[in-house]
Amino acid sequence: MALYGKLEVVDDVAAAFHDLVVVREPASIALSGGDTARVCYERLVAAPVGWERVEFFMSDERWVPVSDPASNEGMARIALLDHIHPAAIHSMYRSDETIEDAAADYDALVRAHPPIELLHLGLGPDGHTASLFPGTAALDVRDRYVVPNGDDLHPYPRLTFTYPAISRSPLVVFTVAGVDKRDALAAVATGKDVPAARVRANEVLWLVDHEAASPGIG
Ligand code: 6PG
Repeated sequence: MALYGKLEVVDDVAAAFHDLVVVREPASIALSGGDTARVCYERLVAAPVGWERVEFFMSDERWVPVSDPASNEGMARIALLDHIHPAAIHSMYRSDETIEDAAADYDALVRAHPPIELLHLGLGPDGHTASLFPGTAALDVRDRYVVPNGDDLHPYPRLTFTYPAISRSPLVVFTVAGVDKRDALAAVATGKDVPAARVRANEVLWLVDHEAASPGIG
């Protein structure tokens, strides 16, 4: 298997993510978007964690107001953040800035902060992660942690962590669930050059369910 990191096939991805957060007690977490992430965050609401010590970041965002249903921060607030009292929530979207200036500001914020202790990523059916889409410019950025990015296949302009930003975290956790992710996960596991396959960090953990895991992948 060519997959970088450790893969665990689990019955319930959200429960496995919950247990990992409880055990590791990260002081900072970068959140992703999507339905898999939303279920994970809803499950965290009741977790026995000292949220008052935890800072939250976004690992990518759609360039829409937080009140927009497409907002990753908006999703995370509804699912989790509005139910707990974290030390900080660092928004990517800024209504008073251009996307370029917001990217530069978030880059400076991340650069000035100690490495984010747990970075959560999803996997798109095309093998994207965060807003690192196949064939886009952000895949090749080495001197920035946060850049604007996007393509014609995915809605909204985006802000996204780059690979250098991702690899700065000591722990990167992918959560992958459902049969519609089977091909993307198999692509990663067989060494295809999809964006998620390029992720490197000190520890990369893949939490995948039985539907997403091809026979023999685990
Ligand atoms: C985004 C997400 C994206 C997501 C994957 C998986 O902004 O769209 O960050 O990378 O995590 O597309 O999303 P699903 O779990 O909804 O398939």
